Amino acid sequence: MVQEKLLTVNKLRTEFFQNKKTSVTAINEISFDIGKGEILGLVGESGCGKSVTSLSIMRLLNFTSGKVTKGEVIFDGKDLQKLSEKEMREIRGGKMSMIFQEPMSSLNPAMRIDKQMIEGIRLHTNLSKQEARERAAKILQQVGIPDPERVLKNYPHQLSGGMSQRVMIAMAMSCNPQLLIADEPTTALDVTIQAQILELMKKIQQEEGMSILLITHDLGVVAEMCTRVIVMYAGEIVEEAPVEVLFNNPTHPYTEGLIASVPKLGSGVKVLPSIPGSVPDLSMLPKGCRFAPRCKYATERCHNEEPDLFEVSEHQKCRCWLRDPHAGVPREGKEEK
Ligand SMILES: Nc1ncnc2c1ncn2[C@@H]1O[C@H](COP(=O)(O)OP(=O)(O)OP(=O)(O)O)[C@@H](O)[C@H]1O
Ligand SMILES: [Mg+2]
Repeated sequence: MVQEKLLTVNKLRTEFFQNKKTSVTAINEISFDIGKGEILGLVGESGCGKSVTSLSIMRLLNFTSGKVTKGEVIFDGKDLQKLSEKEMREIRGGKMSMIFQEPMSSLNPAMRIDKQMIEGIRLHTNLSKQEARERAAKILQQVGIPDPERVLKNYPHQLSGGMSQRVMIAMAMSCNPQLLIADEPTTALDVTIQAQILELMKKIQQEEGMSILLITHDLGVVAEMCTRVIVMYAGEIVEEAPVEVLFNNPTHPYTEGLIASVPKLGSGVKVLPSIPGSVPDLSMLPKGCRFAPRCKYATERCHNEEPDLFEVSEHQKCRCWLRDPHAGVPREGKEEK
């Protein structure tokens, strides 16, 4: 599977600062890449750092107390942390765009939809005002808006939640980005529209060779859409695998739990197993493996030492002592201090 990389995230760490000295680490040295034309899924429970990952990549943490304190993000050969704000603005919304989890937060309440969409399109293309308007209407129709002309004349507050979510999706796709970061893009929509929009994203992805980072709670969506998946837990990547491998042979106990809690058609199971316990508070992380307090396989070692992300096969990685290829052999440079 040799594929040209579009995005490489390397040991990225983001902290939120309560004051100059105290911070919580929301994502801790995460590394992954996305190939050209690939759909990578990012899954994990609420609070595990999915949205912070996407905001860190897009350099959109300025309005929070968050800061990237380590690592790099290489997009299309460029180190994004080193770009000026102006250069970053040219990439955002153009070569790289994002569908936010909160639709209303990214629509300008004081501007009509047509103006917002036309401005966005013209900022990143050479289209005339009229051509940009036509493209806006076309893409609104593609995301299932039956009357684009009426919606174009509306202000955001005149739209329902589902409608504004669709406008957001249309805006994000309107400049044919190379990378689309979609943070729970369809969670607020009903099932039919959800399927329609995922279908559209996949169609554009195939036609234009776009890459997608798809953030979702829904493993059904992952199975339908993604080629590879990364699983996050408490700010770290705990497993990475091609989609079929993840579903057929999950190696991390947390992934195993996630998959077990997906309903299977026709299984007759009424009560689904869920993973007991809850995600740890990032400011009071347990010693050792972050998942150990909830893990039915945890041993003493798990409660004391943090596991690495081990390579379990050519394309699969897992952060669990059960998968330690050197089990029993003391690891170089990692002796207890
Ligand atoms: N603006 C903020 N200020 C301080 N801490 C934050 C902020 N945003 C996120 N965090 C911290 O980062 C952690 C990860 O949050 P994030 O929003 O990335 O979770 P998520 O995986 O997207 O969850 P969800 O599935 O609910 O969207 C949170 O648990 C919280 O501790
Ligand atoms: Mg989120």
